[in-house]
Amino acid sequence: MWKVVWAALLLQVPVCAQTVQSEDNHEVKDTRKLGHVSVIIVGGTGDLAKKYLWQGFFHLYANQVSSGYSFSFYGGGLSPKDKATPVLFEALKNVTCPLDLSVERCALVKEQFLKLAEYRQLVTLEDYQALGKQLTEHPKQEGVTEAGRLFYLSVPAFAYADVAEKINASCRPSDGTWLRVVLEKPFGHDFSSAQLLSAQLATSLKDEEMFRIDHYLGKQVVSKILPFRKENSKHLDPVWNKHHIERVEIVLKETLNAKGRIPFYDQYGVIRDVIQNHLTEVLTLLTMELPTNLSDSKEVLKNKLKIFSALEHLERHCAVVGQYESYNKEVQEELNKTKEHYSLTPTFAGVMVYIDIAQYEGMPIILTSGKMLDERLGYARILFKNDIFCVQSHNNVHCKPKQIIFYFGHGALQYPAILVSKNLFKPDLKDTEWKEVTEQNDLHVLGMPISDYYVLTPTVQREAYSELISQIFHGRKDSFISTENLLASWDFWTPLLHSLANAPSRLYPGGVDNGNMLDFKLLGREATFANDALVFITHDDMGGSGVESFQVMQGKYRSAEMVSAWSEELIVRLAAEIQAAAESAVREGGRFHLALSGGSTPLALFQRLAHYHYTFPWRDTHLWMVDERCVPLTEMDSNFRTVHDHLLQHVKVPYFNIHPMPVQINQRLCVEEDNGALLYERDISQLVNTSSFHFVLLGVGYDGHTASLFPSSKLDAHRESLVALTESPAKPHQRMSLTLKAINQAQKVGVLVMGKSKHELITQLSRVKDNINKWPITGIRPTSGRLVWYIDYDALLG
Ligand SMILES: *[C@@H]1O[C@H](CO)[C@@H](O)[C@H](O)[C@H]1NC(C)=O
Ligand SMILES: *[C@@H]1O[C@H](CO)[C@@H](O)[C@H](O)[C@H]1NC(C)=O
Ligand SMILES: *[C@@H]1O[C@H](CO)[C@@H](O)[C@H](O)[C@H]1NC(C)=O
Ligand SMILES: *[C@@H]1O[C@H](CO)[C@@H](O)[C@H](O)[C@H]1NC(C)=O
Ligand SMILES: *[C@@H]1O[C@H](CO)[C@@H](O)[C@H](O)[C@H]1NC(C)=O
Repeated sequence: MWKVVWAALLLQVPVCAQTVQSEDNHEVKDTRKLGHVSVIIVGGTGDLAKKYLWQGFFHLYANQVSSGYSFSFYGGGLSPKDKATPVLFEALKNVTCPLDLSVERCALVKEQFLKLAEYRQLVTLEDYQALGKQLTEHPKQEGVTEAGRLFYLSVPAFAYADVAEKINASCRPSDGTWLRVVLEKPFGHDFSSAQLLSAQLATSLKDEEMFRIDHYLGKQVVSKILPFRKENSKHLDPVWNKHHIERVEIVLKETLNAKGRIPFYDQYGVIRDVIQNHLTEVLTLLTMELPTNLSDSKEVLKNKLKIFSALEHLERHCAVVGQYESYNKEVQEELNKTKEHYSLTPTFAGVMVYIDIAQYEGMPIILTSGKMLDERLGYARILFKNDIFCVQSHNNVHCKPKQIIFYFGHGALQYPAILVSKNLFKPDLKDTEWKEVTEQNDLHVLGMPISDYYVLTPTVQREAYSELISQIFHGRKDSFISTENLLASWDFWTPLLHSLANAPSRLYPGGVDNGNMLDFKLLGREATFANDALVFITHDDMGGSGVESFQVMQGKYRSAEMVSAWSEELIVRLAAEIQAAAESAVREGGRFHLALSGGSTPLALFQRLAHYHYTFPWRDTHLWMVDERCVPLTEMDSNFRTVHDHLLQHVKVPYFNIHPMPVQINQRLCVEEDNGALLYERDISQLVNTSSFHFVLLGVGYDGHTASLFPSSKLDAHRESLVALTESPAKPHQRMSLTLKAINQAQKVGVLVMGKSKHELITQLSRVKDNINKWPITGIRPTSGRLVWYIDYDALLG
């Protein structure tokens, strides 16, 4: 057994394998000097260094001591030398040996290690210059060449740029000697701060010199995900897709609170603290295309970035958030805030993520983490659909859930493991660093007895930091976060973080008392808590209005019909009326012609239609545009793009029934001679019976414009046409629009107006006389159809 363990340890250090294998008692005899390596932990007396880093570097030293490298270790800090030296040595004495070292050997190696270490005060540029000088001179005195310098920045992120600059200015080694600088999260707070920090660091360090740590990637089970997928590709290839996977869950549960870390935590919250980094990295490992060479960091990165660019945009409703009850009191205490201070920082979040590539389309990936939960546990679970219907024997193995669990650690199992349901397949095990666990006990893992799984575990358990430190030493970059990877992740998370900034969090008591309070479910693409809330905390200016009543009011506005309600209820009502119009049109003529506006007001309507109206007759619906900006349809400010992203993408409208406005013809935009307006008009005349749309959805602008019919745009000029090119006062100026004639021929016209900011306009419009050149909206008078105003209470009542 002892031999197997040692061999396993050697596998990660191929350089020295031969030398050491030939020796039975690995005494330090090697004269083949590979050079000197200096390790400098800036922040070497801090908590992280005490708890993990020195331990990790000691393991590196213990594994490399016979390899031909020599070492020196520096703990750097802001305190003066006489004060900090004893603190540093307390931490150094505290390290433990790798399991395979004998007691005597351990004592010897540890003694050597302590002799190689010293404390340096690192405050000023002069301190760094003095250090730089020593780093150069020390190997010379020892008569060895210098192999490399490894700086580990275990300091607050605001100090990175400054320390990196000092390193570049005075500790950069001569050519031929490597420089590696290790950074710990947080790497920014959102996309722009991460970009700024990356730009600052890039002035001092080259990308290949930077090692951004995500310690999750050092966890043995996490770093086994890709190799496991590869070793078992025979079994996994046919089922690793949306047809077979029900869902993926990536979960990190903590039992601790945030006490003592509040000044940091309150600015970050659970998504920035662990979901944006650790859980997202796991997501990419589970879903990325398998690289042909697992240790080729460029290929790994390329495949990861493909996943990032295919992640569906996160909306507010993709997440649920919570905060444990005593959190706010901790914030008041640690930040010296008054009793009126309320923090909205979430300490729990559940987020639904979807990947927009054919392999995974529509397959939910659930990322969840929280503090003060019932147990400490981290895992990723792939739950497969079960396509076998058991007629009689329900205890039959085929009737049980099929799942693969990457069990990162903690929880009931107490060891990291990969578990595969026995009704899936027996995993291949080609890697001698892993073994199958065969002893049985009565443990349950995620609801199934452990005897229902094949269980794989590492032969030797290693700390994530030891693992990563070894990789840095060997210059392997595939388990570190490159700048591109980092920015891609922030790019994905930042919009959600911003939209959650004032979102109410569900309060939870903590521990087992949480019961089922934090359970959440999928409703279409929406995540909602599964059980009714007891208490929500809300932001001051949200208090009151949102929750009172959901009554719908009907009345008259500008002598036309009006429906009014709180915005949510209004959207529900409007969506229902559009569906009713669609069903009636399809019943009568087999088709429904709907003309839609762009802009932000109808987004909630599109989402409602996309995610709740499963019986909508989309197959028989033709979609037209009310107006369009003269930009390519792929641009974000194209109205068609909005309709595409929020509606078309999610519903099955036949391709042939979609009619964007032809604003781009002959590779140019809205040129009169290209006759785009005329082409659209012909399409309408040919496809829409009597050119009469069944439903036209409009909005109204602050200046009274509707569609792209603006004040003083000489609306009389296109009295006879259905479609016209128009000019907007706002950029982009050129537009294409349905005319008043086309709109007024419709069977039903709905004007949707929402939000407090429209209140003044609604008041004013209620008083003005029809004047289409001043208030184009007043020209909407359907000749034989109906006009209905849909105005929410905010716009109506202010
Ligand atoms: C000793 O190590 C443990 C973890 O192994 C750590 O929690 C503790 O802070 C260390 N003590 C000192 C004095 O560094
Ligand atoms: C490091 O400093 C030198 C000047 O001392 C500068 O020319 C260089 O751009 C800096 N950055 C890098 C990445 O070398
Ligand atoms: C895989 O990539 C690593 C790192 O780039 C390289 O050292 C190794 O030779 C590659 N292996 C193969 C089989 O190409
Ligand atoms: C809170 O107040 C105490 C005493 O007034 C002070 O020592 C401490 O630094 C303050 N903490 C913060 C975060 O402002
Ligand atoms: C077309 O419209 C006319 C007049 O509105 C109507 O009488 C006729 O039934 C419609 N035809 C179809 C196929 O809907």
